Amino acid sequence: MRGCKKIFGLQVFQSASKQSTHEGILVALKMLQFILQRKTLNFLILLVLLFLCIVILWYTWQVPSYRPLVLYSHQVTKRFQKTDFLLTPETDCMVDPPYLVILVSTTHDQLKARAAVRKTWGKIRLIQNKTVVTYFLIGTTESHVHQDTLANENAQHGDIIQKNFLDTYHNLTLKTLMGIEWVSLFCSSSSFVMKTDSDMFINVFYLVDLLLKKDKKTNFFTGFIKLNERPLRDTSSKWYVSEAEYPEKTYPPFCSGTGYVFSADLAQKIYNASRHVPVVNLEDVYVGLCLSKLNITPEPLTTKNVFFSHRIQFSVCSFRNIVTTHRFKPSEILLYWRALEESMDAECKSDDGLS
Ligand SMILES: *[C@@H]1O[C@H](CO)[C@@H](O)[C@H](O)[C@H]1NC(C)=O
Ligand SMILES: *[C@@H]1O[C@H](CO)[C@@H](O)[C@H](O)[C@H]1NC(C)=O
Ligand SMILES: *[C@@H]1O[C@H](CO)[C@@H](O)[C@H](O)[C@H]1NC(C)=O
Repeated sequence: MRGCKKIFGLQVFQSASKQSTHEGILVALKMLQFILQRKTLNFLILLVLLFLCIVILWYTWQVPSYRPLVLYSHQVTKRFQKTDFLLTPETDCMVDPPYLVILVSTTHDQLKARAAVRKTWGKIRLIQNKTVVTYFLIGTTESHVHQDTLANENAQHGDIIQKNFLDTYHNLTLKTLMGIEWVSLFCSSSSFVMKTDSDMFINVFYLVDLLLKKDKKTNFFTGFIKLNERPLRDTSSKWYVSEAEYPEKTYPPFCSGTGYVFSADLAQKIYNASRHVPVVNLEDVYVGLCLSKLNITPEPLTTKNVFFSHRIQFSVCSFRNIVTTHRFKPSEILLYWRALEESMDAECKSDDGLS
């Protein structure tokens, strides 16, 4: 404690020297006089304490990784960045706007899933001369190891969008909003945006094909449409929504979060609307609430169902005629993607391989 008081004395001395060097020298001389008066062991101990105090203070300021990540990144973003993205993809959307931006919701531990997506439907860069890009949405954990690993992953692949919020199931809405905000800020000249998950099989070829055929460029939102869904009021449910969160009896139309697609003009509109729509933890419902505020209704992409939120048995002919299907392990995504790619020219008996 006494050592720390000395630091205070030192600060007084420093600010005095700023005001005038003359005054400063006087103070210094006084201090020297004081030092010379006390040639005791006591003083040496005080000096050591003072030194330790300075070292500890210096250390806490110089080594930020010893402080909680959340605090650190918050300070970094406040000081150096206009928006608080921690990681962003290496891309220049303004120079080469993609036709389709695929945003994949993922977590730190899903390394294998990200690797599988990068090798399969996420690797496709050009379809019918249209650019497609795939980026991963991720939050933060309290682990610095996680953060370092992720920063390395982004340095290697340049495909991660990250902001500072705790990556939990209940924060999925924030994750989606982050992706939408990123598009509205940095990639608004793209044509379409898809939000999906990393356990999905996406037939990007068919999706681009259908989007080109549909040719609706604005106010367009599509996916596996859910109408008249009711909030689950059972507290033990994974999808529980309290009356305080959402008092109405039914949700407005929305598309299953397993995979929905919208024209890029909606990114900024949804993001703007989100400022006036209280957050509901279910991200797909939440986007639906924003759409309803904007008076936009989701519509089918084509006459038959192509978005599935469940798992469909693999066959080349069935997977050719779907856009999304759910619940695949990374190894299965790799396997089925290869099978699909290798049989591009195979004949299918009917146009629709689905039973
Ligand atoms: C492909 O797109 C580029 C730029 O969008 C264009 O310059 C080029 O002519 C296109 N090629 C074909 C074959 O359509
Ligand atoms: C969501 O993220 C915020 C910001 O990091 C955090 O304060 C909050 O606890 C998180 N919510 C949940 C339910 O995890
Ligand atoms: C969104 O909000 C910003 C800032 O308030 C405004 O400049 C912009 O025009 C809005 N965009 C849309 C599409 O409403």
